Amino acid sequence: MPGTPTIDGVLNLLGLEAAARPHLESVVHDYIAGGAADELTLAANRNAFDRLRLAPHVLVDVAQRSARTAVLGQPLAAPWLVAPTALHRMVHRDGELATARGAAAFGTTMVLSTLSTTPVEDVVRAAEGALWFQLYVYRDRGASEELIRRVEAAGVKALVVTVDAPLLGLRERDGAHPVALPSAFAAPNVRADQVIEGGDLATTFLRLVDPALSWRDLAWLRGCTRLPILLKGILRVDDATRAADEGIDGIVVSNHGGRQLDGVCASIDALGPIARAVEGRCALLMDGGVRRGTDVMKALALGADAVMLGRPILWGLAAGGAKGVHAVLGMLAAEFDLAQALCGCPDVGSISRDILAD
Ligand code: FNR
Ligand code: LAC
Repeated sequence: MPGTPTIDGVLNLLGLEAAARPHLESVVHDYIAGGAADELTLAANRNAFDRLRLAPHVLVDVAQRSARTAVLGQPLAAPWLVAPTALHRMVHRDGELATARGAAAFGTTMVLSTLSTTPVEDVVRAAEGALWFQLYVYRDRGASEELIRRVEAAGVKALVVTVDAPLLGLRERDGAHPVALPSAFAAPNVRADQVIEGGDLATTFLRLVDPALSWRDLAWLRGCTRLPILLKGILRVDDATRAADEGIDGIVVSNHGGRQLDGVCASIDALGPIARAVEGRCALLMDGGVRRGTDVMKALALGADAVMLGRPILWGLAAGGAKGVHAVLGMLAAEFDLAQALCGCPDVGSISRDILAD
């Protein structure tokens, strides 16, 4: 793709971690790379994609191709967004501003984590208006309401409420070397009186995030904002059905990149049954292990409207700031474009279940 930056020596998203490694302290590298406990689910996210097989259409005119799409009214250059991830200033000095600029240069939307190291207002400007916000609901509901009103006023376009982390997963890599929050973590999206000075991520998370959040709180959330609300971290058909029944605008089928409950199924394996159950009643996204253009193809074939990328974005950010993020998105776009041509699916609307072999 003309004008898309590259990262020296990196051919694909699977090669990014090695390229990022020299730019990161080992504690930060381990925090990003790691999964919960035995990292079974982390591995399953990749293996499950590899097990799916494609059945391409031939003799389709694929001379002109488009990856463009839209999710909840948000136009996207390609069917993927930047997943919410915490603490970008530990990864690159420009932090979330660089991530937002890289995403904007490519033409996609970033989902900003509650645990951002940059104030949401600044990131909205860098994102050129295409920012979504990931919400961890605080024990202090008043503080959460304040934050929701603040991100809405800042111009955020959707709220992604993470529901798979009432407590932080068992991160044994981090247990040995706790992720100390940098002083740069002035906790811009957290009220100052709630931050523990010099604390680590796990302790801060436990103190801030409300493990009592339940289905009953959806009405409260709905009453706090006019923004579309997505629930991130759903893996069960009954939960997905309930979310759709209750009028949720979107679902992210996710196991948090294998970082929460180890032993849960791969996100891509949960997707198909959930897509059949919600039947287009709400937007459907997935994340976890997406590394190849053909992975995106498989997720869309199983019913996703778009996918999200977690670790690859952070590796790109470490290796090259905004340009690194743009490069990651561009590499995936080149692969997806080729996959569209070779699957006989010249536009996103033509990708359906029948391009998967039984
Ligand atoms: C995350 N993820 C995450 N999710 C969330 O809702 N809020 C957050 O603050 C974070 N923070 C975070 C930090 C890091 C370092 C990682 C790797 C992940 C989970 C993220 O949004 C996404 O679900 C997974 O990263 C997707 O899997 P892949 O693409 O990393 O395999
Ligand atoms: C993580 C949390 C912060 O996955 O969501 O590290």
